[in-house]
Amino acid sequence: MNRFLKRLSLEKPIIQAPMAGGITTTEMVKAAMDGGILGSLASGYLAPQTLEEQIRIVSDHSDRPYQVNVFVPGNGKIPEDSEVNPWVARVPASQKRGNFMTIEEQWADFYKKIDLILQYKVKMCSFTFQLPPVKVVQQLKNEGCILMGTASTVNEAVLMEERGMDMVCMQGSEAGGHRGGFLEENGDSSIGLIALIPQTVDAIDIPVIAAGGITDTRGLNAALALGAEGVQVGTPFLLCKESGAHPVHKQRIIEANSAETRVTSLFTGKKARGIVNKWMMENEGYERSVLPYPHQHVLTKPMRQEAAQAAAPARMSLWAGQGIGSLGEETTVKEVIAKFDGKEGFV
Ligand SMILES: Cc1cc2nc3c(=O)[nH]c(=O)nc-3n(C[C@H](O)[C@H](O)[C@H](O)COP(=O)(O)O)c2cc1C
Repeated sequence: MNRFLKRLSLEKPIIQAPMAGGITTTEMVKAAMDGGILGSLASGYLAPQTLEEQIRIVSDHSDRPYQVNVFVPGNGKIPEDSEVNPWVARVPASQKRGNFMTIEEQWADFYKKIDLILQYKVKMCSFTFQLPPVKVVQQLKNEGCILMGTASTVNEAVLMEERGMDMVCMQGSEAGGHRGGFLEENGDSSIGLIALIPQTVDAIDIPVIAAGGITDTRGLNAALALGAEGVQVGTPFLLCKESGAHPVHKQRIIEANSAETRVTSLFTGKKARGIVNKWMMENEGYERSVLPYPHQHVLTKPMRQEAAQAAAPARMSLWAGQGIGSLGEETTVKEVIAKFDGKEGFV
């Protein structure tokens, strides 16, 4: 039994990935816990009181462990009008946008979520987008909370270990949704898991959890053979009945093949992998002038909401990983977990 399985007393070395934006539901997390894997609540974009309700629901459901995933704010300076105006002209419905959050408001939201994790003694907390502050790491560790950072390069994984993480989620370029990388100097580097896992395992001593394009036992065993101790799986769970994903999003994942995804910053200002649609193609030339995250997200939100109401995939963010070619129909969390059968044992 590896360190990750042992530390969390799981039956299978699998994490149901946190998927913000209403995709991860408490029903999904409960089913993951029942299935012997680690469930994850996604606190990104959630109001703290909604996160509290979700924590209560999953804590009341079972004594099994789950994690809460938190977005760590970056420098997110509110953009000047001269940067915003061209985007207002370009993005349908953007005049209906909400206020841009100041960096102080973003940190206040982050700390409220950390307080809830401490208050409810959540077993594990994972971070994405940045290194978590030293003070927060100490506070959580003092309460026995297990910590996981997200990285997309070896350098980032080393920094996560130095910051005191108990494990690191290595996100390969195959992964769906936002890239968790944070070192600007790494630029557009997008490293696949087959190269990333062994180099990371050689560079750090904490367990590596591999994420990106893994849909069944074959991917899990490949990751374990390369030295990972577990996997974090997103897109296959998005396609479950328990997921809050829009039916059109699910349908596009069912129809699309793995050549149809691409990384874009157009929707949120941060790189994320999704199925290519009309709006992405029309605005391809503006990738480099997007507003910094989360301001581009605020600006495009009304467009995405209206598209969702109209069931129009052309203007929705259809986040998905490169494993979509293996995913053929709506399923259940239980069925996804069964695909990781471990018949021949885990490597
Ligand atoms: C729709 C969607 C939303 C996501 N939201 C989050 C999130 O809130 N926090 C996070 O750490 N990772 C998030 N991710 C990334 C996952 O943690 C994971 O790295 C990814 O799903 C793995 O690749 P796969 O989708 O090919 O399995 C998201 C992924 C998807 C597909």
